[in-house]
Amino acid sequence: MEHRSIHPQGPTFSRIITGAWRWNQVSPDTVERLIQTSLDEDMTTFDHADIYGDHSNEEVFGRALAKNSSLRNKMELVTKCGIKFPSAKRPGVWVKHYDTSKEHIIWSAENSLKMLHTDRLDLLLIHRPDPLLNPHEVAEAFAQLKQQGKVLHVGVSNFTRSQFCMLQKHLPMPLVTNQIEISLSRTEPLFNGDLDLLMEHSTSALAWSPLDGGKLMTGEREMFSKAIKYNASYSQLSLAWLLRHPSIIFPVIGTTKPERISEAAKSIDIKLDRQDWFEMLKWATGKDVA
Ligand SMILES: NC(=O)c1ccc[n+]([C@@H]2O[C@H](COP(=O)([O-])OP(=O)(O)OC[C@H]3O[C@@H](n4cnc5c(N)ncnc54)[C@H](OP(=O)(O)O)[C@@H]3O)[C@@H](O)[C@H]2O)c1
Repeated sequence: MEHRSIHPQGPTFSRIITGAWRWNQVSPDTVERLIQTSLDEDMTTFDHADIYGDHSNEEVFGRALAKNSSLRNKMELVTKCGIKFPSAKRPGVWVKHYDTSKEHIIWSAENSLKMLHTDRLDLLLIHRPDPLLNPHEVAEAFAQLKQQGKVLHVGVSNFTRSQFCMLQKHLPMPLVTNQIEISLSRTEPLFNGDLDLLMEHSTSALAWSPLDGGKLMTGEREMFSKAIKYNASYSQLSLAWLLRHPSIIFPVIGTTKPERISEAAKSIDIKLDRQDWFEMLKWATGKDVA
């Protein structure tokens, strides 16, 4: 597996990242196998959020780290904060909302440290743009967490270009990523300036739902000829399509099956020909480029 820095000031991540959003669908034993398979494939970066699995996925993952203390230093951990919804685990929350107050960002990061059984988060993201976001408060929270060594890098997710630039202007440290949805089903970021902006900031996108939550695998079978040409599966070709982009996209995959992690890892070796890349884009959008 290739590893690259997502920003000149770090961190360095595996080009394909393992996402834990759906891991509440499987047993803790399978979670351990998903972690181990990722590491065996040298996919060392794991993506979490405080809310995944109704606030339980970080904890299950953390228990696996607690059982085997050598694991933590072999991996990088990403998590997110800022979304709140009604849950037995969060008494007092009666409506889904965003909270990017200084107090909540710090509380959430410290809670994630506890849940994940670790002393540091490699990357903390604001999960969604908050209309009530006060950039001065976010700056203070990020600065405190970084200064204490609890969070090594900071970033955002699902931010528009103007939201990214506005927040960055107020921060003493770089936003090292914007984690956004990109796939053959969602090609807009390649054309709407999202990826251009990140390249301008020497920052890479982390691409969530790179297989459109599995829908790419159930759709049209146009990729059949490419699968033969590259001796690859549809999911591998879909990931290779993202990996080919010059902005250095880091797909965040979401499978709950260890064998599919190994399958995804092999997509790093597929070097798509330029015309094949454009032909896949044509299938995705239904038309030739202009
Ligand atoms: N920042 C955000 O707002 C945000 C939003 C959503 C997700 N995320 C992150 O992105 C990660 C990935 O999202 P995702 O789960 O939607 O990603 P995905 O990789 O596009 O989809 C994974 C889903 O596709 C299914 N699938 C069907 N065929 C597959 C195949 N051949 N290979 C692999 N998977 C196949 C998987 O089922 P099986 O489990 O049966 O393999 C799983 O349900 C999440 O875990 C999370 O970390 C972030």
